Amino acid sequence: MVEDRIYENKLRLLPGLVLVAAGKGQRFGGDVPKQFRLVEGTPIYLKALLKFVSFTDQIVIVVPRDWEGQISDQVMECPALARANVSIQVVPGGKTRQESVLRGLKCLRDKCTHVLIHDAARPFVCSSLITRVISAMLEYGAAIPMEPVTDTVKRVEDNMVVRTLDRSSLRSAQTPQGSELRQLLKASERAAEDGFIGTDESSLLEREGLPVRAVEGDKQNIKITWKEDLDWRNDNEA
Ligand code: CTP
Ligand code: MG
Repeated sequence: MVEDRIYENKLRLLPGLVLVAAGKGQRFGGDVPKQFRLVEGTPIYLKALLKFVSFTDQIVIVVPRDWEGQISDQVMECPALARANVSIQVVPGGKTRQESVLRGLKCLRDKCTHVLIHDAARPFVCSSLITRVISAMLEYGAAIPMEPVTDTVKRVEDNMVVRTLDRSSLRSAQTPQGSELRQLLKASERAAEDGFIGTDESSLLEREGLPVRAVEGDKQNIKITWKEDLDWRNDNEA
């Protein structure tokens, strides 16, 4: 009885996780989408997922339709996940990242108050970053990890430089991004109705005028985009 109550409380307090892994990895190339390739012996998406098991008990993995069976099997056979006592759903994604996120969010409707969205292609995320996002999300409603931009950034049209942007106020966005579930669901559904496509969750909340707290990101938390992103990692570890 007491355990039941603790478990109910836990469900209300812990955020859900949507891990988006339904991309094709076109820039990375190859037959197998980048998030299903191995790094240090573990599939990239699984490495990312395992970082979250102590922060959540409801996980939705969004995958390409033809990978649903294989990923469900892999997840069921993972001893670390079995020990973690988390509920995991594997569902098919959409054509854009935004559609994939929305499909994941719908699976969590009414199951948790807050949600984290994480790119499966970011396997090097660390616990302290996840903690920063969760605490800011609980305080402000939504939170996003950001890194300062170190390159000079210019607007270019027809291969001609138009102007240089003020780098001091620019930040690049990472994941996990966190939000109240209902707000993000509403913002995502509205964006879909309006045909608006954003590249992250924050952009959908911004267009609703909702506050999003920026927290410090982490340089290690790169998104694997190109083959070279992994060469760099392997070189450093060799
Ligand atoms: N993603 C997704 N559904 C899509 C597109 C992307 O779930 N329709 C996921 C990717 O699997 C990845 C994350 O969103 O974990 C970030 O996207 P990105 O790095 O752009 O991955 P891809 O879209 O797969 O790569 P590319 O754009 O090079 O094809
Ligand atoms: Mg993409």
